[in-house]
Amino acid sequence: MRIAWAFTGAGHLLLESVEALEKIVSKHEVTIMLSRAGEEVLKMYGLYERVINVTGGYYRELAMEKDQEFSFPITGRLSMGRYDLLVVSPTTSNTISKIVHGIADTLVTNAVAQAGKGAVKTLIVPVDMESGDVETVLPSKLELENCKECQPCEAAASCPSGAIIPGTEINLLKCLGCGDCQQACPFNAVSGGKIITIHMRQLDVENTHKLIHLEEVIVLRSPEQVLNHI
Ligand SMILES: Cc1cc2nc3c(=O)[nH]c(=O)nc-3n(C[C@H](O)[C@H](O)[C@H](O)COP(=O)(O)O)c2cc1C
Repeated sequence: MRIAWAFTGAGHLLLESVEALEKIVSKHEVTIMLSRAGEEVLKMYGLYERVINVTGGYYRELAMEKDQEFSFPITGRLSMGRYDLLVVSPTTSNTISKIVHGIADTLVTNAVAQAGKGAVKTLIVPVDMESGDVETVLPSKLELENCKECQPCEAAASCPSGAIIPGTEINLLKCLGCGDCQQACPFNAVSGGKIITIHMRQLDVENTHKLIHLEEVIVLRSPEQVLNHI
């Protein structure tokens, strides 16, 4: 199959999405599309390299929103029906909201719109399925209650991208998610993969439910379920 797999900027279900993607790339042609936030968040969670590693060649490109300017030429392939399937996993509340309102002003929302025009089946894995509390995972985080404000800070010294502001926070836009800082700090002042509970907004859940009205769109609960459609 020829598949386009789009990542948006959600930490929730991100690792599971990368794992599902890795299971299909050897047997299928997969073009990967990253929203700007998708690119940033993949880096924060240390998953960007894993995605890069499965790209290369025609129809196996990495299409970044920042390179697609404002008209997203690559999505023309979807309107021309050149793919068998579009997968959006994980899908942020932001992207879901835009899709259900017909907005197509980002690489991923535009890909969904063009897939609809080209009758390309689209699988969407939203982060907001049901109202209530949901557990999700954080990228690296400075735990200030453990920080002894050492001079020099060993965690900051170990960071290859200079992302740690000692005694303050981690600049996530510089963080590569490598985890070196977690190993370097002798006081466990840097956490990685911490689980927190967040509350799903009713508005976002309602938007997710509206997806079922879109032609050619199938809503899935988990990235693993994508594999049943390939
Ligand atoms: C570390 C981190 C994790 C995030 N996780 C989520 C998430 O799980 N779900 C979500 O809807 N937004 C999440 N966001 C916010 C989105 O990245 C943000 O709304 C972004 O504008 C979405 O753009 P996109 O929909 O074009 O990818 C997260 C942001 C950060 C910095």
